[in-house]
Amino acid sequence: FSLRQHNTFGIAAIASHFAEIRSVADLQSVRLNPQLMSMPRLILGGGSNLVLSDRIDALVLHMCVQGKQIVGSDADSVYVQVAAGENWHQLVLWTLAQGLGGLENMALIPGTVGAAPVQNIGAYGLELKDVFHSLDAFDWESGELLTLDKAACQFAYRDSIFKQAFKGRMTILQVTLALPRLWQPRLGYADVQRFLDQAGITAPTAQDVCNAVIAIRQSKLPDPAQIGNAGSFFKNPIVSAAQRTQLLTQFPELVSYALEDGRYKLAAGWLIEKAGWKGRQLGRAGVYEKQALVLVNRGQATGADIRALAAAIEHDVSALFQVSLEAEPVFTDSVQAM
Ligand code: EPU
Repeated sequence: FSLRQHNTFGIAAIASHFAEIRSVADLQSVRLNPQLMSMPRLILGGGSNLVLSDRIDALVLHMCVQGKQIVGSDADSVYVQVAAGENWHQLVLWTLAQGLGGLENMALIPGTVGAAPVQNIGAYGLELKDVFHSLDAFDWESGELLTLDKAACQFAYRDSIFKQAFKGRMTILQVTLALPRLWQPRLGYADVQRFLDQAGITAPTAQDVCNAVIAIRQSKLPDPAQIGNAGSFFKNPIVSAAQRTQLLTQFPELVSYALEDGRYKLAAGWLIEKAGWKGRQLGRAGVYEKQALVLVNRGQATGADIRALAAAIEHDVSALFQVSLEAEPVFTDSVQAM
């Protein structure tokens, strides 16, 4: 089964086994099949955070569960329940059409709702955890559905329990979001404020912020339908205050953001650009010319091409700054069960 249409890098990978999951019953029947259970598993959402190997000897489960609804409200929040297979960006637009703000800073993030909690997606000053209430996940060990609240998910920057202790054990089936009843714009990210200023908008609506985010993203991130990519390829690395001070003596223009715990997050895009990689190519993989944190498929790239480029960048950034970059996507050649 070809996964070419199922990953935003556009890698022509072949999966040995593939099934569409439309309900919890579908997962339960997989679990009761010893032959299927003997294989490694790969859970596939929108395929926007994957570097696929050419051949995947695994059971690929494509999450197609659909449905979204407003399920209630209290003094602070309106609760929206969404099935894992729904497209994230379509959900953002749908909530706005219902008059519900809260997700607009995360407009145009590729991928599905079920994938969103796994890496705690985030953009323009908002992370999934800020609007998250709970989720229902299928536990492959017990065969039961579990409800996990925000604390149980252990969200952190591009991280959650689903990448740690629950890796491979839980499959997310639906997510409940808590959207604020008293909406206020989140304009902490300079790009968004600048865009609104330039448009002459002083009291933005959630739709205005959504439009700003869409315009900013389209100006610096490649559309996967045109150029294969997986968004930011590396996490922004976190360093100690001492290491940042040291780096600043050598690189006064270093871009960094203070974290609450006293450490600093560095702009990986800046490090990669300074290391000379912006717009460059290695084999059939390249570094996007408008955003150095994004690796792109220059045509027929394989997972190995992308890995080789990533390794070269990691090497050069480490040599120049003594900072280790950590890749954000999942690599299927290191997957046992996902
Ligand atoms: N920069 C450069 N050169 C570049 C790219 C960036 O110097 O080629 C510097 C600039 O100073 C720029 C700063 O880095 O101001 C930050 O760049 P940008 O606003 O594009 O954000 P980012 O840190 O590169 C992160 C997320 C994105 C998210 C944006 C906006 C990560 C790994 N990435 O990127 O998320 O959209 O912020 O909030 O945290 C994704 O995860 O796939 C993703 C696109």
